[in-house]
Amino acid sequence: MAEVVVLRWGHRLRDERLTTHVILTARALGASGAILSDVEDKDIKNTIEKVVERFGGPFFFKMGVPWRTAVKEWREKGGIIVHLTAYGENIETSDVMKRIKSSGKDVMVIVGSQKVPSEFYSEDVSDFNVAIGNEPHSECSALAIFLDRYFEGKELSKEFKGAKLKIIPMKRGKKIERIIDS
Ligand SMILES: C[S@@+](CC[C@H](N)C(=O)[O-])C[C@H]1O[C@@H](n2cnc3c(N)ncnc32)[C@H](O)[C@@H]1O
Repeated sequence: MAEVVVLRWGHRLRDERLTTHVILTARALGASGAILSDVEDKDIKNTIEKVVERFGGPFFFKMGVPWRTAVKEWREKGGIIVHLTAYGENIETSDVMKRIKSSGKDVMVIVGSQKVPSEFYSEDVSDFNVAIGNEPHSECSALAIFLDRYFEGKELSKEFKGAKLKIIPMKRGKKIERIIDS
C-alpha cells in the first residue's frame, strides 16, 4: 500500500493541543509521518517523540518547513496531494477515494485550521479536495475518517515497532505490558 504523510497547516501557538492531537491521530491511524508547516513548536515535538519512543513507530515528525516547499518536494517525488476541506468532493457520495487509491501513489494529506490559503483548492497544490461530509467540523475528525477509509480499518490493528509499552485491550480496567528488549 502507498505511503501517507500528513501536513498540518495553520498551527496556532495558543492552540498546541489541537495540533498535537492531529499528529497523534496521524500516527495512530496509519500515516508514516507528519509535517507541521511554517512554524516550530518544541513542546509538540517533545510530546510526539515521547509517544513514539514509548508506543513505537516508525513515525517521523518534521516542523518549520514552509508549506510550499513541502508540497513541491512531495510532488517532485511523485506523490499526490489530498486537501481535506468541507467544500470538496464528498468521500461518501462521490468516487473520490477510488480515484485516489487507483493512482497507486503516495499521498500527502493537508489539514488546515483557520481559513486556509485559496491556493490549497487549486491544481497547483491539491490533486483532490476531499470532504468528510460537506459540513464543517474538525481537522482531527476529518483526518481520522479519511485515514480509516483509506486503510479500510486495517490500521487499527497495526503492530508498532520498537515499542516499550503496549496497551492490552480488556473489557474493563487498564493493562499496559512492558516490552523488554531482547
Ligand atoms: C475547523 S476547520 C476550519 C475551516 C475554515 N473555517 C475554512 O473555511 O477553511 C479546520 C480544518 O478541518 C478540516 N475539516 C473541517 N471540516 C471538514 C470536512 N467536513 N471535510 C474535510 N475536512 C474538514 C479542514 O482541513 C479544515 O481546514
